[in-house]
Amino acid sequence: MTISEFNSKFSSDLTDLYSLQEVSSLFKIVLEEVLSFNITKFYLNPDYTLTKIELKKINKFTDELKKGRPYQYIVGETKFCNYKFYVNDSVMIPRVETEGLVDWILNDNNNSKATVIDLCSGSGCIAITIKIKRKKWDIFALEKSKKAINIAKRNSSRNLVNINYVNADIFSWDNCDEVDIIISNPPYIAESQKKFMKINVLKFEPEKSIFVPDDNPLIFYKRIFDFSKSKLKAGGLIYFEINPKFKNQLISLSNEYHFSSYELKKDIFKRNRYIKFQK
Ligand SMILES: C[S@@+](CC[C@H](N)C(=O)[O-])C[C@H]1O[C@@H](n2cnc3c(N)ncnc32)[C@H](O)[C@@H]1O
Repeated sequence: MTISEFNSKFSSDLTDLYSLQEVSSLFKIVLEEVLSFNITKFYLNPDYTLTKIELKKINKFTDELKKGRPYQYIVGETKFCNYKFYVNDSVMIPRVETEGLVDWILNDNNNSKATVIDLCSGSGCIAITIKIKRKKWDIFALEKSKKAINIAKRNSSRNLVNINYVNADIFSWDNCDEVDIIISNPPYIAESQKKFMKINVLKFEPEKSIFVPDDNPLIFYKRIFDFSKSKLKAGGLIYFEINPKFKNQLISLSNEYHFSSYELKKDIFKRNRYIKFQK
C-alpha cells in the first residue's frame, strides 16, 4: 500500500468519529509519530510504498484511534504551553483552554517571590509551567489520585523543576501555611452535560477528573472558597478555570465570601472560561 492510499483509507476509517480538520491533523501525527515522516515528505513522495513493518505500526495506531482513544494517550505525551508532558489514562489531557489560565497568571504576577498552590493538579501541567517561568516561586500541587501524582512527578523531572506534591483529598486537607495565590482547574462538567460530549472523552479520560453532580456543580469552588478563608493571605488571588454555564452561580456564591473584587476572562473560543478573585 502506498502512503497516499493509506491516507484515503485513514480518512474514511475516521470520519465518523472526527471532523475533516481533526482527521487531517491526526494523519500528520501518525506520519510523524509512527513513520518519522513530515507532511512535506508525504507530499513529495505520495507513492512511497509502506513496508510491512510500517504498515503494521500505523494500522495498530489507527485501530486505537478508531476505538476513540485520544492520540495523546496512544503516544503517551502531549504539549502544553510548548512544554512536553507525559499523559496516560490516569490524568485528564491538558487542554488548550487551560494555557490561557496560565498565561493570565504569568502576565498578572511578576513578583520575584510567591507561594502558590494548584488544587486538583492532575498531570501537573499548570504548576509545572508556572514553575518553569517563575523559578523562585514556591509551588505546591494537590491531587487526590496517586496515579496522577506519579505522572506529575515524572513531568516535573522531565521539565527540570521541583514542585511540592501533596497526595490528598481537597475536601479534607488544609495542612499548609497561607499562600499568595490559589489556582484551580477542578472538575466542572455537570453529569447532565455528558450527552453532549465525545466518546474519546467519555470512554477514555478519568471520570473523576471531569464530572460534578448536577445538584452541586460548584462543589469544588465552594470548598476552595472555604479553604481560602484561612489559607489565602489578605490581598491574595484565586484563579479558576470555570464552566461558562455556571458563571453567574459562581459569582453569586462568591458574594458570600466578601472578596474585594473579581474579574472574568474569555478563552480563545470567546467563552467565559476564567475568573480571578482578590481577597
Ligand atoms: C479537570 S482535572 C484538571 C487537571 C489539571 N489541573 C489540568 O488543568 O489539566 C481535575 C483534577 O482534579 C482531581 N480531583 C478530583 N477530585 C479531587 C479531590 N477530591 N481532591 C483532589 N483532587 C481531586 C482529578 O483527579 C483531576 O486530576
